[in-house]
Amino acid sequence: MNKDFISILDISEPELEQLLSEAHQLKRQKKAGTTHPLLAGKTLAMIFEKSSTRTHISFEVGMNELGGHALFLNARDMQIWRGEEIRDTARAASRYVSALMIRAYKHSTIEEFARFATIPVINGLSDMEHPCQLLADIMTMQEHFGSTRDLRVTWVGDGNNVCHSLILSTVLTGLEVTVSTPVGYEPVPEYVKKAQELGGKVTLIREPEKAVKDAEVIVTDTWVSMGDEDERDERLKLFGDYTVDADLMKLASPDARVLHCLPAHRGEEITDEVMEGGQSLVWDEAENRLHAQKALLVRLLKK
Ligand code: CP
Ligand code: NVA
Repeated sequence: MNKDFISILDISEPELEQLLSEAHQLKRQKKAGTTHPLLAGKTLAMIFEKSSTRTHISFEVGMNELGGHALFLNARDMQIWRGEEIRDTARAASRYVSALMIRAYKHSTIEEFARFATIPVINGLSDMEHPCQLLADIMTMQEHFGSTRDLRVTWVGDGNNVCHSLILSTVLTGLEVTVSTPVGYEPVPEYVKKAQELGGKVTLIREPEKAVKDAEVIVTDTWVSMGDEDERDERLKLFGDYTVDADLMKLASPDARVLHCLPAHRGEEITDEVMEGGQSLVWDEAENRLHAQKALLVRLLKK
């Protein structure tokens, strides 16, 4: 396995399969009350430039359950916010802790940390990718559908960081992904191209009603990601036709399920009815962040 986990494509298909099988195992162990201190004595430092609920809690609890320790660091309280260079922060931190998880505005910040850190670096979300979210999403789809091979997934909304990771994941999972966004909010073309060149099945269809036809999974996310707040009013106007509501769900496969990485904005990208309805898997998805990331930490840290 690569030293770092910055993109979902930092792992190979067999590594992903093994990692998720460990995640399912860790979930069963937790439910059975069996302790599993696989990372005793290890410390994860978590640097956050942006807000977080799930990523923060799941990584911290995950390290505790693995017998290790997690350290929460608000980037604004660090010297980095006053101008200390990433390369210096990365090398100093590497002398204290076993791994670094970073949530950053710029993807390049995480890449630079990885270049200079001598320990594993994990992307806890950047403007471009959210690979830890995809581990949980794939695990959730495996739980519900048994396999992700040829599963038809439609992304509705903003072609954002989570969408990019979903697109890249087609290369490893056999998912068939259709993406439906307003004009100007498509995923970055390089992500689509890269996935397609590596054998991933990705299609763009503008109209959400057409894009969800026969879909077995509908995925959405906020229309205003962290960092896009200044564009909120404009986005709300443009995204109006892209709400995942009961009418849109009726056009998908009758057994379709819904994923949302959360936080959700009811009445914007998803209705309360769909979020709370029988087709929603969002709470299992949120829970699976914990199990999937524990498996990731074990893979990266257990020598
Ligand atoms: N899905 C997700 O990453 O949630 P948080 O922003 O709460 O960490
Ligand atoms: N796309 C969202 C995901 C939040 C977990 C954001 O970047 O804000």
